[in-house]
Amino acid sequence: MITRLNLEGLQAFIPPEKLRQAIQARAADLAPILQGDFGSPADLGWFSPARWEDDPLVELIERLAQVIRAETQVFVLVGVGGSNRGAQAVIGALGDRRVEILYAGDNLSAHAMQRTLQRLQGRSTFINVIAKDFNTLEPGIAFRLLRQHLQDTYGSEAAERILVTGSRGAGQLFDLAEMADYTYLPFPEDMGGRWSVLSAVGFLPMAVAGVDLRELIQGAVEAAAELKELPLEENPAVQYAAARNLLAEQGFAMENLATFEPSLNYFARWRSQLFAESEGKDGRGVFPITSSYSEDLHASGQYIQEGRRILFETFLDARFSHPELVIAPSRVVDGFAYLDGERFEELNAAVYQAAYQAHVAGGVPCMQWQCGAPTPALFGELFYLFMLSCCLSARWIGVDPFGQPGVEAYKKNMYRLLGK
Ligand code: PA5
Repeated sequence: MITRLNLEGLQAFIPPEKLRQAIQARAADLAPILQGDFGSPADLGWFSPARWEDDPLVELIERLAQVIRAETQVFVLVGVGGSNRGAQAVIGALGDRRVEILYAGDNLSAHAMQRTLQRLQGRSTFINVIAKDFNTLEPGIAFRLLRQHLQDTYGSEAAERILVTGSRGAGQLFDLAEMADYTYLPFPEDMGGRWSVLSAVGFLPMAVAGVDLRELIQGAVEAAAELKELPLEENPAVQYAAARNLLAEQGFAMENLATFEPSLNYFARWRSQLFAESEGKDGRGVFPITSSYSEDLHASGQYIQEGRRILFETFLDARFSHPELVIAPSRVVDGFAYLDGERFEELNAAVYQAAYQAHVAGGVPCMQWQCGAPTPALFGELFYLFMLSCCLSARWIGVDPFGQPGVEAYKKNMYRLLGK
């Protein structure tokens, strides 16, 4: 595995010995999870990413993506929550922009929908609608408008430009695909939305954006193999789960994931969804928030440094490298001559250290995931690592990570307001 978990910034709150003892005390609960035994019926289809290594579905997706990349200018991913965030995380950081990827079905803003439709005018378009249960209003209705646009534009050929990734069963996307002759890809039955990034759900949009699926899968496979074998006390997935919850017991109810690449904001959002929907139940769970530095050092950074001591921070030390970008001397005096000849990337390294040291000194418990440069393999690894750790963390606090019953409350109100 590429990633390392550095816990030095927790010393004042959780000395290493205390962490070790806490993990040992939970060993009976946690150890089976590392072997894929959750002890109850669970959606653990994501647990063995090796399932994709020889799966012909991956090859099919690669071929489809090749055709789409050759033929289209725009690809619209219609989906919400677990159906779009994983792909968006990777595409945001690694997509090659040969095809413009747009997102729809994750809001009900008429303005956003209108703008999306405008962006499609006169441009070759493909749509991929993704839904585990095709009854969520946001993607369902966005798909209707977008499909009507394709029908108006391409007539009987519209169906060739629509791909659906969904479940089988009454009212689900498989039926629709059969009826309308759309290309169908399976949403695995054995994993829920936010656990589905390593499946057709994430694979097709990522491949259309030029991401190497084999490398991504390999990263996840290697992480899975290593995390399964590591002793509990040395296992970063376990240490992270333990540290989060020991901090929560000390009153640190929020976790701020700090990134230093704007293009990792989507990954941070994927991680927030994973932990929030999995843990936020029965009045429990750490509330995940995200910060994009340097920008947020000039905003929420003030609160983190000096506000209420209710949050801990997890630094994602994943930065791209561009040694070729060197700061040339300026012809006019601008006050920054002390940076002449410096590599631009050194500035990001400096702000990372500056923020980390300031926050540790300011009394914020800080952890670091030390990752290196974002690559498909790193994403595969991080997806797996966080999903496993999230399961362990949910077990630690005694909640079921696989449902999201609280989401129904707003949906019921929507149906009532819209007269369903
Ligand atoms: O993680 C989950 O299961 C949810 O966030 C779902 O992905 C989200 O509610 C969208 O559901 P669906 O794909 O059924 O439209």
